[in-house]
Amino acid sequence: MSSSVHTSVSRRSFMRILGAASAAATSFPALAAVQQPAAAPAQGARRGFGGDAGMMRHLSPDTVIISSNENPLGPAQSALSAISETAPLGGRYHQEETMKTVAVFNDLFGLKPGYLALTPGSGGPLDLALMSNIGPDKALVYGDPSYEQGFRAAETMKAPKVPVPLNATFAHDVKAMVKAHPSPGAYYIVNPNNPTGTITPREDILWLLANKPAGSVVIVDEAYHHFSNEDSVIDQVAADKDIIVLRTFSKIYGMAGLRAGVAVARPDLLAKFSTVAPPARSLASISITSSAAARASLQDKELVPLRRKINADVRSETLEFLEKHNYKVVPGSQANFFMVDVKRPGRDFQAAMIKENIAIGRSWPAMPNFVRVTVGTKQEMAKFQTAFVKCMDTAPGAANGASLYMPEYHVPSELYRG
Ligand SMILES: Cc1ncc(COP(=O)(O)O)c(C=O)c1O
Repeated sequence: MSSSVHTSVSRRSFMRILGAASAAATSFPALAAVQQPAAAPAQGARRGFGGDAGMMRHLSPDTVIISSNENPLGPAQSALSAISETAPLGGRYHQEETMKTVAVFNDLFGLKPGYLALTPGSGGPLDLALMSNIGPDKALVYGDPSYEQGFRAAETMKAPKVPVPLNATFAHDVKAMVKAHPSPGAYYIVNPNNPTGTITPREDILWLLANKPAGSVVIVDEAYHHFSNEDSVIDQVAADKDIIVLRTFSKIYGMAGLRAGVAVARPDLLAKFSTVAPPARSLASISITSSAAARASLQDKELVPLRRKINADVRSETLEFLEKHNYKVVPGSQANFFMVDVKRPGRDFQAAMIKENIAIGRSWPAMPNFVRVTVGTKQEMAKFQTAFVKCMDTAPGAANGASLYMPEYHVPSELYRG
């Protein structure tokens, strides 16, 4: 897509979102408080609007894509079979199909009915979890660096943004987070954290739940949970704590394009989502094929342990290679990505790597000389290693990436897509 087409598509989608936002603001109290003027600068600032797909259009078909933390293995065979079995039934709405998947999830986590919403991906409900608990007088406290959807939601809602640096082990510093603001609306914890891949111990999240000011909620984004060895905090939802947990099928389950995710929380916290978007938008029904694929994936007992091991093995091999060559990586990743120091602005290095047909991830303002790299297949990471050494051996500034469309952000959220 040429950049002019890209811009006009983005603008058209953007106008549609604005139209919908203005209509919605009359019905949704929290949105009315921030109305249209708030939406415009936040969207305008999002240079990568359109996501990494925009970048890929400019790349040769054999480019190694290790930029968006997707799973190179794609959906499991069990999920693909479920899709082909349910697709012929797609002429009907089939609410029973999604109810079956919700029941399987509830069983797995010991949740009572009404504590879970099955959604197209987790980005949409993540926005709603954030937006329904923050506002001009309800700050958002979040880790830095961490996933940008947190502070973007704060911008949309005109909520004070309170970034708190990660601690020495690159975990969320929950004690500093509590000290950072006397009465925030929400704390956002990404575990494992994006972009560092590092873990915030479960005990720290339990401490935060026990010590946070009354009236605030803890939002835990477990998008990458399955790659890690840490225990989930979904049991805290079942225990009726002030917590919302998000899960996605986009990562270990390899279903980023199929779109399935869940928001898990007390019914009153899920109901609050409708203060910022109508239920049809927020807890939108997912397609029967995605629902069936999600359920088959949940019931596939081999899938998570096998893929966790495959990812961990390739990640270890890659990190060993980088460390052996004295490159500096952020230690402790338990995710399908890691950060590495490229000793120059990450954006320049990204551009140099694309010339070698390797699309890597972005850098974060808190760590501008580090780039995030997704763990691909063994073969893909072998190509990454060769290109990485070549680009590191090239003097900073030598690569000219100006002709490439380089997205600043991957924007997975349905709310921002239009
Ligand atoms: C930390 C985190 N949360 C949420 C998401 C949203 O993903 P999806 O909408 O595909 O579920 C992503 C996607 O990259 C992510 O990295």
